[in-house]
Amino acid sequence: MSDKTATLNVDGSSLELPVLPGSVGPEVVDIRKMYGQTGKFTYDPGFTSTASCQSAITYIDGGEGILLHRGYPIDQLAEKANFLEVAYLLLHGDLPKQEELDEFTQTITYHTMVHEQLAQFFRGFRRDAHPMAVMTGVVGALSAFYHDSTDITDPQQRLIASHRLIAKMPTIAAMAYKYSVGQPFVYPQNDLSYTGNFLRMTFSVPAEPYEVNPVIERAMDRIFILHADHEQNASTSTVRLAGSSGANPFACIAAGIACLWGPAHGGANEAALNMLREIGDEKNVKAYVDRAKDKNDPFRLMGFGHRVYKNYDPRAKVMQQTAEEVLKELNISDPVLDVARQLEQIALNDDYFIEKKLYPNVDFYSGIILNAIGFPTEMFTALFALARTTGWVAQWNEMISDPEQKIGRPRQLYVGATQRDYVPVGER
Ligand code: SDX
Repeated sequence: MSDKTATLNVDGSSLELPVLPGSVGPEVVDIRKMYGQTGKFTYDPGFTSTASCQSAITYIDGGEGILLHRGYPIDQLAEKANFLEVAYLLLHGDLPKQEELDEFTQTITYHTMVHEQLAQFFRGFRRDAHPMAVMTGVVGALSAFYHDSTDITDPQQRLIASHRLIAKMPTIAAMAYKYSVGQPFVYPQNDLSYTGNFLRMTFSVPAEPYEVNPVIERAMDRIFILHADHEQNASTSTVRLAGSSGANPFACIAAGIACLWGPAHGGANEAALNMLREIGDEKNVKAYVDRAKDKNDPFRLMGFGHRVYKNYDPRAKVMQQTAEEVLKELNISDPVLDVARQLEQIALNDDYFIEKKLYPNVDFYSGIILNAIGFPTEMFTALFALARTTGWVAQWNEMISDPEQKIGRPRQLYVGATQRDYVPVGER
């Protein structure tokens, strides 16, 4: 702990606030005593300059376009690891030894089935319900089935709930897809990988055999890795805030799914592909770029920009390479990819985007790959939620174990009416 301080001079008095260092990245000014000593709050809508917690899971250097999970660069993990290996790393802090990975993989594999009654929940939805509405409802309902892993004070129950959530998300996501297309649910098959199992539960039909395509399996696994965790983003902060009240882990993850759905966050992958399709042809790109620059036009380039990355999102680079691989493997020439490349080139050379440091983010290319694999656009954010559950679970566990943790309860700058007396309706 350093003895460095920041001085706050206000109302004629001076306050020394501790400055706390991390292992890397910006230091923080500890303002926990500020209100008590000055009667003033800090003000930071959107938490653009606020550290909500200490964390050792993920580090992002937005200026340099660096993303580390427990210190390991995302491009190395995407190239060399598999998703469950990254899930173990996020949860436990180190890359697993072979026997640890084998045990973790088996544990997850043997939790992939869901209670048979859970299937009834799907039947209450319309077939055209958005998969994120289904995921929010069904994952929230898991707490009604797994009472033996909702006591958050018991580390063993927290671990079982964590395994159940990571294991069952692919099954629930696949069920949401099957329900939307009117096909029967497909049970997990334990001799397949986590991602191979998900592809089979999603795309196989009882009428014929299904072979997992290893190139697609690898690409999907890499997409899951790229979406696994991302520091204190909106949905992770939602999970932490829900968890800070002592809510059970299934309810917390359902809250994270609800937040991720927004088009400014996880919903951007669906919105980005819809935008690229609306642009339709390279000759239309410039008009859309001009709209994105027009202050009077609410249109934004979906899949562009980021609160933290003011350089290229390192995940977007890997995603673009994966898009090329998958389209080649499936022998698809998708004109939308040409539109995306043209849009990226024009935007990256345009003063507006350069000045505002707007680059493609993780959502810009992912939709092209998912569409090529066969997922409907509405499923894209559900796949993001599937992968991000691992990060949410790791962050939730870290929050619960944090000795500094207390219920999250922000304050406000009140700008409403000051106290006034009630006026009877006849005198108003
Ligand atoms: C994810 O937080 C995370 O880590 C999220 C995520 C994760 O893994 O969890 O990385 C996943 O959510 C990626 C982001 C997906 N969203 C989109 O692609 C939607 C489009 N992008 C934006 O709406 C926006 O860039 C945000 C929401 C991502 C970031 O918004 P900020 O940081 O609040 O920035 P801002 O809205 O204040 O924008 C700064 C300026 C503004 O112009 P001025 O008002 O200063 O003149 O940049 C402009 C914005 O108008 N701008 C854009 C733009 N994004 C920002 N202009 C055109 N197109 C865009 N996409």
